Amino acid sequence: MAVDIKNVTDVGTEPGTLPDTMAAWVIRQEREGEPLDAFQIEEIEVPEPGALEVIVRVMAAGVNYNNVWAAMGKPVSVFRYHPEDDHHIGGSDASGIVWKTGPGVTKWQPGDEVVIHCNQASYEDPEVHGFDPLAAPSQKIWGYETSWGSFAQFTKVQAQQLIPKPKNLTWEESASYALTYFTAYRMLIDRCEMQAGARVLIWGAAGGLGVFATQLCRLSGALSCGVVSSAEKGALLEQLGITGWIDRNEYAGMMRKGGESPDEEKARFKEMRRFGGAVREVLGDDPNIVFEHVGQATFPTSVFVVKPFGKVVICAGTTGYNLDFDVRYLWMRQKEILGSHFANAWECTKANQLIESGEVRPVLWRTMGFDGVAEAHQLMKENKHLGKIAILVGAPETGLGKTEEGAGAIYAEVGA
Ligand SMILES: NC(=O)c1ccc[n+]([C@@H]2O[C@H](COP(=O)([O-])OP(=O)(O)OC[C@H]3O[C@@H](n4cnc5c(N)ncnc54)[C@H](OP(=O)(O)O)[C@@H]3O)[C@@H](O)[C@H]2O)c1
Repeated sequence: MAVDIKNVTDVGTEPGTLPDTMAAWVIRQEREGEPLDAFQIEEIEVPEPGALEVIVRVMAAGVNYNNVWAAMGKPVSVFRYHPEDDHHIGGSDASGIVWKTGPGVTKWQPGDEVVIHCNQASYEDPEVHGFDPLAAPSQKIWGYETSWGSFAQFTKVQAQQLIPKPKNLTWEESASYALTYFTAYRMLIDRCEMQAGARVLIWGAAGGLGVFATQLCRLSGALSCGVVSSAEKGALLEQLGITGWIDRNEYAGMMRKGGESPDEEKARFKEMRRFGGAVREVLGDDPNIVFEHVGQATFPTSVFVVKPFGKVVICAGTTGYNLDFDVRYLWMRQKEILGSHFANAWECTKANQLIESGEVRPVLWRTMGFDGVAEAHQLMKENKHLGKIAILVGAPETGLGKTEEGAGAIYAEVGA
């Protein structure tokens, strides 16, 4: 049955009371594939909050690459992560209003305005208390490894996922940044201990992760060299304070495809050296940090160009997970590879303060209506976007929800 989303901004109840059902964008296992086909709107029962859980009315949601993977069912089907739910409501970023709290929740009340970070872990795992929740066996990414994400009128989260909504941002601005910004924060600030004067090479610098990596470099006094695939993305980076940028189309020969002949390998190394020269020209020296998420295509270059004793920090492998590189450049020059995954609640809190103070700003490319969820993921899969895409859910129009003056988002006005 087709669901009418004309009234998606009206939930019909006051904070404290949940309606029986809600409109939600749902992926089901039998229709995994292109985002445009995999996402469909359905009417779903609103869940009740369990112990230490909160139901948030979603005012706006943020689009991330993880639900491109969820739609495709690749590299694995998300239904493997949550076999208890036969629907997948994706969405790992949101701003909204606390609507109902579960037993044990004391810090949040119905009516509170919040942003949601996407890390979940069981309160009962010892890693959560004193080590790092990302190390807990129960750790999951909300809205990817769990159902009940943000592409619906209501979402179910753990109370520890809630952060006060920055008053200087609209609903759509505050829904757009958390997942990629907090990931970039952990990668650079905590995993790499980036300091003033560091030299950082950032792949995909105008993408969701990259726009925040670029701003964190500027704020930390580090030099940054961004890699992008068009001049208009380079122009956005200049607005964000990049030291300099390189168009990767000029170095297509350095990308690892796999199965190259010895002659092709030789040619690839020559191109990697040429690219290294261009990076040095921007930074004044080789980078001592490389910000990686592209994976197979770029990883050999990352290990090759990073300075001796430097760090390659990686949180994804968009072009492929099986990475191969000439390991002599790693051991002879004592380089390090660091894995990183999202962020813990403390990192999220610290990073969010920089948004509240306007020192780091969301970078919004486009805000779409609730009907745009499938299309937004398709655009992202096809690399047609810059920065972030937000979706209006409970907010009837853009520009609402801001209650204090202050720097809002940067709007990327170029692209598809
Ligand atoms: N583990 C975690 O916690 C975590 C958190 C966030 C994201 N991720 C993952 O990280 C990846 C990137 O996320 P995102 O939000 O930044 O995505 P995004 O907004 O699509 O940005 C990625 C950027 O990578 C660049 N790129 C794409 N294909 C490339 C290629 N073949 N060679 C070089 N550069 C390429 C593109 O920039 P140009 O075309 O301009 O070069 C694109 O803007 C995704 O796989 C996502 O799932 C992981």
